[in-house]
Amino acid sequence: MSKKILEAIFSESLYCTNIKANHKKYLKALMDLKMHQVYIHEPLLEKSKREEINTGNYISVNKKILHTKQFKSLKDILYKEIKTGVQDAFKYDVDFTIENSWGTMSQPNAVSEFHTHSNYWYSAVYYPHGTYEDNMSITFDKSLPSFFTVPIKQYKHYNQHQYVLRVTEGDLIVFPATLRHKIGFNFTKQNRYSLALNILPKGNIGDNDGSRTI
Ligand SMILES: [Fe+2]
Repeated sequence: MSKKILEAIFSESLYCTNIKANHKKYLKALMDLKMHQVYIHEPLLEKSKREEINTGNYISVNKKILHTKQFKSLKDILYKEIKTGVQDAFKYDVDFTIENSWGTMSQPNAVSEFHTHSNYWYSAVYYPHGTYEDNMSITFDKSLPSFFTVPIKQYKHYNQHQYVLRVTEGDLIVFPATLRHKIGFNFTKQNRYSLALNILPKGNIGDNDGSRTI
């Protein structure tokens, strides 16, 4: 091999797009959802103590909101866009089903924790509002720890440990459900809303003794 090349042999990939939809309608529908507080994941604290700590983040009680009539039209739009991501961008030859879907609300100055979406394949988040100046974001964190923290000349996908993605109205981000992420700090004076969902592959997957139909 005479040529000097840099190959990212594996990657954590995001599919980012901006969708056309009646964002105001879906924002209103998200605002109307019944929500409960997101508790911190601190195993040393009893559940009742965890509930006392206000993170400023709320999640809808209904975890299948895209199956309700208020969001039916949005489900069709999201399915089509996510299919483009899964099949055209990620190049998977499989269909999928949207399983869980929920609304999130973050108060001004809310603090979020890194987390994954266990038991699912890919996840997606849709943002019905937000301007560039609002500085809304989602932060991703490298799944494996880095044992050395060395000075970096220029941040690139092969040397960075975290990635902050600024999001605005209509943005849709698709990412592996195993990828650690958290809601970015809410710098605005308003509550910020988003809709998150999890998908599973559908049909025949796997080979031989690992094959299954889902
Ligand atoms: Fe999440």
